[in-house]
Amino acid sequence: MTTPPKTVRLRIQRFDPKTDTEPHYDTFEVTTKPGMTVLDALFQVLEKQDRLLAFRYSCRSAVCGSCATFINGKQRLACNTQIIKLGREVTIGPLPHIPVIRDLAVDLRPYFTKMHMVKPYFEAKEPYPEKEFIQSPKDREAIDVAIDCIDCMSCFSACPMGWTDPKYPGPAAFVEAARFIADTRDTAKAERLALVGCEDGVWRCHTVFNCAEACPKSIDPAHFIQYIKRKATRASLKR
Ligand code: FES
Repeated sequence: MTTPPKTVRLRIQRFDPKTDTEPHYDTFEVTTKPGMTVLDALFQVLEKQDRLLAFRYSCRSAVCGSCATFINGKQRLACNTQIIKLGREVTIGPLPHIPVIRDLAVDLRPYFTKMHMVKPYFEAKEPYPEKEFIQSPKDREAIDVAIDCIDCMSCFSACPMGWTDPKYPGPAAFVEAARFIADTRDTAKAERLALVGCEDGVWRCHTVFNCAEACPKSIDPAHFIQYIKRKATRASLKR
């Protein structure tokens, strides 16, 4: 069994668009301990070496999606990545292809702007039930995987179509759309299907599976994209 390194060298991308013309890397040595995550290492840098390091986090439990960064060339959740498994040197950057606010913190607005293109919320016709919308366990199962998305933007950052097409909603938005299209309680399926089954929607996906590879929750957005394609095709045949 290989002995885990006692210290790890972190190469962290630094960039402040207000003052810098281009990003550079700063190097920090951190002391490891059992169970230490990349997020813990970032805190060690912040508390002991550089009070100005900027990064995002909230839950520290792989639930909120805030800490997604580009770690050793892969989108990962910093709070869910054991540092000793990454070797003696770890390179950390912000999620690629998303504007940087500072250092590892990226701008969330492009992601949520695209997410809103697909009406990512439940819609139901009135009158609403007195207590709750009832759903059978089988119908609930149909949306099980899709609701695991934590909006970490990893797939968004990994999708080549998203980088080039401002009208392309992107993998997470398609997962969200599929989640509501498959939800037996939702009444806006046709409208939502029209939003994602169009020319700038799922048909632009090149099925390169970067999204599935990047997802820290093992969701396969390509599966949901295929689901929307099938639904859109069937809907068009009925017209
Ligand atoms: S801090 Fe919430 S997912 Fe990492």
